[in-house]
Amino acid sequence: VIREGYALAWITLSDKGSQGKRVDESGPLVGTLVAEKLVLNFVQGFVIPDDVFQLKGLLADLALNQGVDLILTTGGTGVGPRDVTPEATLAVIEKRLPGYERAMTAVSLVKTPHGAISRAVAGTLGQAVIVNMPGSPKAVAECLEPLLPTFRHTLEKLQ
Ligand code: MTE
Repeated sequence: VIREGYALAWITLSDKGSQGKRVDESGPLVGTLVAEKLVLNFVQGFVIPDDVFQLKGLLADLALNQGVDLILTTGGTGVGPRDVTPEATLAVIEKRLPGYERAMTAVSLVKTPHGAISRAVAGTLGQAVIVNMPGSPKAVAECLEPLLPTFRHTLEKLQ
């Protein structure tokens, strides 16, 4: 299949952000950094509360109905009572990508011991790749770095 470009969606998990109580830079940063590496023909962004049902529904709709290729979440990967991003992701993915998860942990631990706190999950659903990332822009930049070179090949293999 000859592809002109990929469709990207970023989803920021933030109770405050979804209520307009804070502006989060991580989602737009995902779009900027991925666009430097992959040709994107469609970028969508969402800011939703830390809610398992909403995230599961959005992930499934984007991957299975909307034809989004790459879905990157930011936030909600820690151990706070409202951090449920990994649980929602595990509930919908078909094939887990442990190598993606390890790559993020590896680069994170070089930067900060707190990298061990993130429970970020990665996997496939239909022909989409879903990756969780921690919420801060700094963490997003660090975690994307080892993954950017492999997105294209992963997506090609999924076709
Ligand atoms: N990973 C990287 N690369 N850089 C970071 O600064 N912050 C950590 C961790 N992973 C961090 C990181 C911190 S402080 C937390 S609490 C966890 O990610 C979870 O973040 P989240 O709850 O915003 O997802």
